[in-house]
Amino acid sequence: MKVFAVGDVVGTSGLEFLRKILPNIKQEYGVDVCIVNGENSADGNGITPVSCEHIFTSGADVITTGNHAYRRKEMYEFFDTNEFVLRPINFPEGTPGRGRVIVDKGICKVAVINLMGTMFMDPLDNPFSVIDKVLESEEIKKCKIKIVDFHAETTSEKRAMGFYLDGRVSVLFGTHTHVQTADEQVLENGTGYITDLGMTGTFNSVLGVNPKIVIDKFKYNMPARFDWIRGESILCGCIFDIDDKTGNCMAVTRIQIKE
Ligand SMILES: [Fe+2]
Ligand SMILES: [Fe+2]
Repeated sequence: MKVFAVGDVVGTSGLEFLRKILPNIKQEYGVDVCIVNGENSADGNGITPVSCEHIFTSGADVITTGNHAYRRKEMYEFFDTNEFVLRPINFPEGTPGRGRVIVDKGICKVAVINLMGTMFMDPLDNPFSVIDKVLESEEIKKCKIKIVDFHAETTSEKRAMGFYLDGRVSVLFGTHTHVQTADEQVLENGTGYITDLGMTGTFNSVLGVNPKIVIDKFKYNMPARFDWIRGESILCGCIFDIDDKTGNCMAVTRIQIKE
Protein backbone atom coordinates (compact mmCIF):
# COMPACT_ATOMS: atom_id res chain seq x y z
CA MET A 1 0.00 0.00 0.00
CA LYS A 2 1.45 3.31 -1.03
CA VAL A 3 0.36 6.43 0.82
CA PHE A 4 1.28 9.85 -0.54
CA ALA A 5 1.15 12.72 1.96
CA VAL A 6 1.34 16.25 0.56
CA GLY A 7 2.54 19.20 2.66
CA ASP A 8 0.42 22.32 3.36
CA VAL A 9 -1.12 23.52 0.10
CA VAL A 10 -0.96 27.32 0.14
CA GLY A 11 -3.34 29.53 -1.87
CA THR A 12 -4.08 29.51 -5.58
CA SER A 13 -0.45 28.78 -6.56
CA GLY A 14 -0.49 25.65 -4.43
CA LEU A 15 -3.93 24.55 -5.64
CA GLU A 16 -3.07 25.02 -9.31
CA PHE A 17 0.26 23.20 -9.05
CA LEU A 18 -1.36 20.35 -7.12
CA ARG A 19 -3.95 19.91 -9.85
CA LYS A 20 -1.26 19.99 -12.51
CA ILE A 21 1.05 17.33 -11.13
CA LEU A 22 -0.75 15.17 -8.55
CA PRO A 23 -2.35 12.81 -11.12
CA ASN A 24 1.08 12.14 -12.68
CA ILE A 25 2.77 11.47 -9.33
CA LYS A 26 -0.03 9.12 -8.31
CA GLN A 27 0.34 7.18 -11.51
CA GLU A 28 4.13 7.13 -11.53
CA TYR A 29 4.44 5.81 -7.96
CA GLY A 30 1.25 3.71 -7.88
CA VAL A 31 -0.27 5.69 -5.01
CA ASP A 32 -3.27 4.03 -3.31
CA VAL A 33 -4.21 6.71 -0.78
CA CYS A 34 -3.45 10.43 -0.98
CA ILE A 35 -3.62 12.75 2.04
CA VAL A 36 -3.24 16.51 1.58
CA ASN A 37 -2.88 19.12 4.30
CA GLY A 38 -5.11 21.97 3.11
CA GLU A 39 -5.36 24.34 6.09
CA ASN A 40 -3.95 27.28 4.06
CA SER A 41 -5.46 26.43 0.68
CA ALA A 42 -7.96 29.31 0.48
CA ASP A 43 -6.85 32.63 -0.90
CA GLY A 44 -6.91 35.14 1.94
CA ASN A 45 -6.23 32.46 4.58
CA GLY A 46 -7.62 29.24 6.00
CA ILE A 47 -9.58 26.63 4.07
CA THR A 48 -12.99 26.82 2.37
CA PRO A 49 -15.43 24.30 0.84
CA VAL A 50 -14.31 25.58 -2.60
CA SER A 51 -10.61 24.94 -1.92
CA CYS A 52 -11.50 21.50 -0.47
CA GLU A 53 -13.42 20.65 -3.63
CA HIS A 54 -10.39 21.64 -5.70
CA ILE A 55 -8.11 19.38 -3.62
CA PHE A 56 -10.48 16.43 -3.79
CA THR A 57 -11.00 16.72 -7.54
CA SER A 58 -7.21 16.92 -7.96
CA GLY A 59 -6.93 13.43 -6.45
CA ALA A 60 -6.88 13.61 -2.63
CA ASP A 61 -8.73 11.02 -0.53
CA VAL A 62 -8.43 12.89 2.76
CA ILE A 63 -7.75 16.55 3.63
CA THR A 64 -6.12 17.32 6.97
CA THR A 65 -5.85 20.75 8.61
CA GLY A 66 -4.41 22.39 11.73
CA ASN A 67 -4.46 25.69 13.56
CA HIS A 68 -6.16 27.46 10.60
CA ALA A 69 -9.04 24.95 10.40
CA TYR A 70 -11.69 27.36 11.68
CA ARG A 71 -10.48 30.61 10.16
CA ARG A 72 -13.39 30.67 7.67
CA LYS A 73 -16.98 30.38 8.94
CA GLU A 74 -18.21 28.67 5.77
CA MET A 75 -16.14 25.62 6.77
CA TYR A 76 -17.96 24.88 10.01
CA GLU A 77 -20.87 23.07 8.39
CA PHE A 78 -18.61 21.49 5.78
CA PHE A 79 -16.48 19.91 8.54
CA ASP A 80 -19.66 18.36 9.95
CA THR A 81 -20.96 17.07 6.63
CA ASN A 82 -17.78 15.86 4.89
CA GLU A 83 -16.08 13.13 6.90
CA PHE A 84 -12.98 13.18 4.68
CA VAL A 85 -12.01 16.69 5.76
CA LEU A 86 -10.42 16.54 9.20
CA ARG A 87 -9.61 19.02 11.94
CA PRO A 88 -7.14 18.20 14.73
CA ILE A 89 -8.66 15.56 16.99
CA ASN A 90 -7.52 17.28 20.21
CA PHE A 91 -9.78 20.33 19.72
CA PRO A 92 -12.37 20.46 22.53
CA GLU A 93 -15.40 18.25 22.19
CA GLY A 94 -18.25 20.15 20.51
CA THR A 95 -16.12 21.94 17.90
CA PRO A 96 -17.31 21.25 14.33
CA GLY A 97 -16.08 18.21 12.45
CA ARG A 98 -13.96 15.27 13.47
CA GLY A 99 -10.30 14.36 13.73
CA ARG A 100 -10.19 10.92 12.22
CA VAL A 101 -11.58 8.95 9.31
CA ILE A 102 -11.28 5.47 7.88
CA VAL A 103 -10.57 5.03 4.18
CA ASP A 104 -11.75 1.61 3.05
CA LYS A 105 -9.54 0.39 0.22
CA GLY A 106 -11.04 -3.11 0.01
CA ILE A 107 -7.84 -5.02 0.73
CA CYS A 108 -7.35 -3.07 3.94
CA LYS A 109 -8.64 -0.15 5.95
CA VAL A 110 -6.55 2.95 6.44
CA ALA A 111 -7.21 5.15 9.48
CA VAL A 112 -6.15 8.78 9.08
CA ILE A 113 -5.82 10.83 12.27
CA ASN A 114 -5.16 14.58 12.46
CA LEU A 115 -3.45 15.70 15.67
CA MET A 116 -2.03 19.06 16.75
CA GLY A 117 0.96 19.97 18.91
CA THR A 118 0.75 22.41 21.82
CA MET A 119 4.30 23.86 21.99
CA PHE A 120 3.99 27.53 20.89
CA MET A 121 0.50 26.72 19.62
CA ASP A 122 -3.10 26.88 20.87
CA PRO A 123 -3.57 25.15 24.24
CA LEU A 124 -5.48 22.11 23.05
CA ASP A 125 -5.80 18.81 24.92
CA ASN A 126 -2.44 17.08 25.42
CA PRO A 127 -1.72 15.33 22.10
CA PHE A 128 0.18 12.46 23.77
CA SER A 129 -2.77 11.54 26.03
CA VAL A 130 -5.33 12.08 23.28
CA ILE A 131 -3.57 9.84 20.73
CA ASP A 132 -3.37 7.03 23.32
CA LYS A 133 -7.15 7.12 23.70
CA VAL A 134 -7.70 7.29 19.94
CA LEU A 135 -5.48 4.25 19.30
CA GLU A 136 -7.33 2.29 21.99
CA SER A 137 -10.72 2.79 20.30
CA GLU A 138 -12.21 -0.36 18.75
CA GLU A 139 -12.85 1.32 15.42
CA ILE A 140 -9.20 2.34 15.00
CA LYS A 141 -7.83 -0.96 16.34
CA LYS A 142 -9.54 -2.72 13.40
CA CYS A 143 -7.43 -0.75 10.90
CA LYS A 144 -4.13 -2.36 10.01
CA ILE A 145 -2.78 0.91 8.64
CA LYS A 146 -2.83 4.06 10.77
CA ILE A 147 -1.53 7.39 9.52
CA VAL A 148 -1.08 10.47 11.74
CA ASP A 149 -0.66 14.07 10.53
CA PHE A 150 0.94 15.80 13.52
CA HIS A 151 0.51 19.52 12.92
CA ALA A 152 3.05 21.14 15.22
CA GLU A 153 5.57 23.96 15.49
CA THR A 154 8.64 22.45 17.12
CA THR A 155 10.88 19.74 15.73
CA SER A 156 11.31 18.36 19.27
CA GLU A 157 7.59 17.81 19.86
CA LYS A 158 7.26 16.15 16.46
CA ARG A 159 10.27 13.87 16.90
CA ALA A 160 9.15 12.96 20.42
CA MET A 161 5.72 12.03 19.06
CA GLY A 162 7.40 9.94 16.35
CA PHE A 163 9.29 7.88 18.94
CA TYR A 164 6.22 7.73 21.20
CA LEU A 165 4.13 6.19 18.43
CA ASP A 166 6.87 4.05 16.87
CA GLY A 167 5.43 0.59 16.25
CA ARG A 168 1.90 1.73 17.10
CA VAL A 169 1.12 3.57 13.86
CA SER A 170 2.27 2.98 10.28
CA VAL A 171 3.22 6.60 9.60
CA LEU A 172 3.64 9.85 11.47
CA PHE A 173 4.37 12.91 9.37
CA GLY A 174 4.63 16.50 10.55
CA THR A 175 3.03 19.55 8.96
CA HIS A 176 2.65 23.28 9.76
CA THR A 177 6.18 24.71 9.43
CA HIS A 178 6.01 24.72 5.59
CA VAL A 179 9.74 23.89 5.27
CA GLN A 180 10.57 20.31 4.37
CA THR A 181 12.98 18.51 6.71
CA ALA A 182 15.51 15.96 5.45
CA ASP A 183 15.05 13.43 8.25
CA GLU A 184 12.68 10.94 6.60
CA GLN A 185 13.22 7.48 8.06
CA VAL A 186 11.63 4.25 9.15
CA LEU A 187 11.91 4.21 12.94
CA GLU A 188 13.16 1.08 14.78
CA ASN A 189 9.73 -0.47 15.28
CA GLY A 190 8.36 0.15 11.80
CA THR A 191 6.83 3.64 11.79
CA GLY A 192 7.53 5.81 8.74
CA TYR A 193 8.48 9.28 9.88
CA ILE A 194 9.36 12.82 8.74
CA THR A 195 9.41 15.95 10.92
CA ASP A 196 7.79 18.15 8.26
CA LEU A 197 6.51 17.40 4.77
CA GLY A 198 7.05 20.99 3.62
CA MET A 199 4.79 23.19 1.55
CA THR A 200 2.99 23.16 -1.78
CA GLY A 201 2.85 26.69 -3.17
CA THR A 202 5.04 29.58 -4.24
CA PHE A 203 8.71 28.72 -3.83
CA ASN A 204 10.10 32.27 -3.50
CA SER A 205 8.08 33.15 -0.43
CA VAL A 206 8.21 33.01 3.35
CA LEU A 207 5.95 30.02 4.02
CA GLY A 208 3.74 31.15 1.11
CA VAL A 209 3.61 34.82 2.10
CA ASN A 210 5.12 37.72 0.16
CA PRO A 211 8.66 38.12 1.65
CA LYS A 212 8.36 41.92 1.73
CA ILE A 213 5.38 41.76 4.10
CA VAL A 214 7.19 39.38 6.43
CA ILE A 215 10.44 41.39 6.38
CA ASP A 216 8.47 44.53 7.32
CA LYS A 217 6.68 42.64 10.07
CA PHE A 218 9.98 41.53 11.60
CA LYS A 219 11.64 44.91 11.08
CA TYR A 220 8.89 47.25 12.32
CA ASN A 221 6.69 44.91 14.38
CA MET A 222 3.55 46.61 13.03
CA PRO A 223 0.30 44.68 12.36
CA ALA A 224 0.36 43.20 8.85
CA ARG A 225 -1.95 41.24 6.57
CA PHE A 226 -0.14 38.13 5.38
CA ASP A 227 -1.12 37.87 1.71
CA TRP A 228 -0.07 34.82 -0.30
CA ILE A 229 2.24 35.52 -3.21
CA ARG A 230 1.90 34.01 -6.71
CA GLY A 231 4.89 32.65 -8.58
CA GLU A 232 6.90 29.56 -9.48
CA SER A 233 5.58 26.65 -7.42
CA ILE A 234 6.95 23.71 -5.51
CA LEU A 235 5.20 20.55 -4.28
CA CYS A 236 6.58 18.83 -1.18
CA GLY A 237 5.54 15.54 0.37
CA CYS A 238 6.48 11.94 1.09
CA ILE A 239 5.49 8.55 -0.24
CA PHE A 240 5.24 5.86 2.42
CA ASP A 241 5.43 2.25 1.31
CA ILE A 242 3.46 0.17 3.82
CA ASP A 243 3.18 -3.60 4.24
CA ASP A 244 -0.59 -4.36 4.10
CA LYS A 245 -0.22 -7.42 6.32
CA THR A 246 1.80 -5.98 9.21
CA GLY A 247 0.95 -2.29 8.86
CA ASN A 248 4.66 -1.49 9.11
CA CYS A 249 6.28 1.10 6.89
CA MET A 250 9.04 -0.30 4.70
CA ALA A 251 10.36 2.79 2.95
CA VAL A 252 9.92 6.56 2.86
CA THR A 253 10.55 8.55 -0.31
CA ARG A 254 10.80 12.31 0.03
CA ILE A 255 9.24 14.24 -2.85
CA GLN A 256 10.09 17.79 -3.87
CA ILE A 257 9.05 18.88 -7.34
CA LYS A 258 9.49 22.37 -8.75
CA GLU A 259 7.58 23.88 -11.63
FE1 LIG B 1 0.06 25.64 7.15
FE1 LIG C 1 -0.56 25.45 10.62
